[in-house]
Amino acid sequence: MNSYKNLMSPIRIGKHMVKNRIIAAPVTIHSASNGETYPNESAMNFFVQRARAGAGIVVCAGAKLLPVTDDGEHAAWDLYKHNSMNRIAELAERIHFYGAKASMELIGIFDGGYVASEGGLLMDMATKGREIPISEMMRYKEAYAHCAEMLMNLGFDGILLHFGHSIPIAQFLSPLTNKRTDQYGGSFENRVRYLVEILEAIREKVGNNMIIEIRMSVNEFKEGGIDLEEGIKIAEVFQKYADIVQASCGMITPELMCRTHPCDFLPPNPNVYLAEALKKSGRIKSYVTAIGAIGSLEDAEEIIASGKADFIAMSRALIADPDLIPKSLAGKAEDVVPCIKCMRCHDSAVYGHYFQCSVNPTIGLMHHLDSMIKTAGEKKKVAVVGGGPSGMYAALIASSRGHDVTIFEKTENLGGTLKFATKVDFKYSLAKFKNYLIAQVEKSDINVCLQCQATPELLKSEGYDHVIVSVGAEPLVPPIPGVEHCINAIKSYGIEDSLGSNVAVIGGGQVGCETALHLAKMGKKVTVIEMRSELAPDASITHRGDLMDEISKETNLKQITGARCTGIQKDYVSYEKDGESHRLSVDSIILAAGMKPMTELSDSFVGISDSYWATGDCVRARTVEMAVREGYFAGINI
Ligand SMILES: Cc1cc2nc3c(=O)[nH]c(=O)nc-3n(C[C@H](O)[C@H](O)[C@H](O)COP(=O)(O)O)c2cc1C
Ligand code: SF4
Repeated sequence: MNSYKNLMSPIRIGKHMVKNRIIAAPVTIHSASNGETYPNESAMNFFVQRARAGAGIVVCAGAKLLPVTDDGEHAAWDLYKHNSMNRIAELAERIHFYGAKASMELIGIFDGGYVASEGGLLMDMATKGREIPISEMMRYKEAYAHCAEMLMNLGFDGILLHFGHSIPIAQFLSPLTNKRTDQYGGSFENRVRYLVEILEAIREKVGNNMIIEIRMSVNEFKEGGIDLEEGIKIAEVFQKYADIVQASCGMITPELMCRTHPCDFLPPNPNVYLAEALKKSGRIKSYVTAIGAIGSLEDAEEIIASGKADFIAMSRALIADPDLIPKSLAGKAEDVVPCIKCMRCHDSAVYGHYFQCSVNPTIGLMHHLDSMIKTAGEKKKVAVVGGGPSGMYAALIASSRGHDVTIFEKTENLGGTLKFATKVDFKYSLAKFKNYLIAQVEKSDINVCLQCQATPELLKSEGYDHVIVSVGAEPLVPPIPGVEHCINAIKSYGIEDSLGSNVAVIGGGQVGCETALHLAKMGKKVTVIEMRSELAPDASITHRGDLMDEISKETNLKQITGARCTGIQKDYVSYEKDGESHRLSVDSIILAAGMKPMTELSDSFVGISDSYWATGDCVRARTVEMAVREGYFAGINI
């Protein structure tokens, strides 16, 4: 018996025995919207993998409530089209193959830009919707019942009804978003009425054959919205129909993304207390699911063992490491790749064209990997120049393929640009990832040569077959008079005490903003001077929203945008804004003007071995995601 005995204990829900308490939370991946009206192989693989890894319930995402009319839709599996149904049934069967329960999310998004009442936000978080008329509401109610019944007939064991995050249907529930004046708006009873009608219609069709889980925002975390007490009251109404209530939270607004998909501005497991509150209220008889950045089976076990929840749901942790469950059960929790909560997965799926994860470079290719990866040939001698994330990743992959790998790192320790993360409170997951990589290198057969400056001559003389160059980038120094008085952002971590209490940060990209925020959180007065009209335009969309929200809370962090820095002295910065010159007196000045790749150095290694790969920031200074991805590509091709 492993040490997760509460978490792994089976639980009966009506006619279903669920084998453990782990729910793989719904994730819409890019391939669910490729134009097919059924799960294609990529989507199929993604959800089935979660069953294979050992989740008790796998919630799939992609079914649409009404017949599909536009192949670009968010959730576009058609439960009305015969040909689509074959594949949807196959999805359930493939999940059953591993003894897991198959569930499908029915997401309450209405066609035609409808929301509960005029002006409510649509899913893009910017466009305002229009009030759904009762005739359409009734059409959707029937659609819910039809889809639930159809899924049951196709072999699904359950449905997850997404009634949270202020998505269009959830807007009925909240006093903040429901401004209707008919029988579906106003009083508490009126606000829950439509969703209760839907639940009744569904139960009428599926009886107690299906596990119904309701995802709701137990707290919307917005003034005038659903608060915890109201959340419990709503759950109390739902429990008559729901087997499981999932205690999620937040609303679809940029500043609340970090609540719903907890980021590192919040402490670990920040939303578990919501599930606990439902349990402790003694008013909820349904099972309760805790969700929100639950990243380890250890935490999950504690949540279940202590009675804070009956189930835990995970989404990103299983993207970051699809083998989180088997690794942990095998006593190898230290080998689990930690999610860094960056939301690149979300942004790549929602705003991009290709599903990506910063720490799992193959997530979007999973279904093709077997045919893509070449068999490793004879053992090769591989040099990796640079012990940052890209170099370490490349080395780990090459070493796992049986090659003789040496990392040459010029500094005293591994970690590269991730080293700063250990010094920043709101980068604790990134620090964990850095430590994970280092620990993996230490456990492997990789030779690590610290304080070793590899040169082309050295590598050539030692007869390396392959050279992977991951030497990183160096700070860009703009030609501003007096720029030598600045401290580079990356070097400012760890010497904060010496910076004084009043600091200017020149450059308001993501790095500048995060540095400024870090210093402001330490109690310093910080001013960011940025040439562009807004801060951190280079950050990915969700992280930018989180960052801007956090910055807005720091009263001692001031931003000056649209300003050109004209001169720097030891204790002041001169800048121009709107045609006027200004001078800002400070104790120290930090430069965050970007990074430039060490192209010359990386190119110097060309031609000394059978193959050469440059990876990470020395190709172009970017995020950890690209560093890891390119490291993987370099390592896997040897
Ligand atoms: C890439 C991505 C796609 C998601 N897609 C959906 C979705 O289609 N439906 C949904 O209800 N939630 C979706 N979510 C939200 C997750 O189900 C979950 O509620 C959220 O990520 C918090 O859980 P976590 O901290 O374990 O990731 C998505 C999250 C991510 C990161
Ligand atoms: S992209 Fe970032 S948030 Fe998403 S799973 Fe990967 S590490 Fe976690």
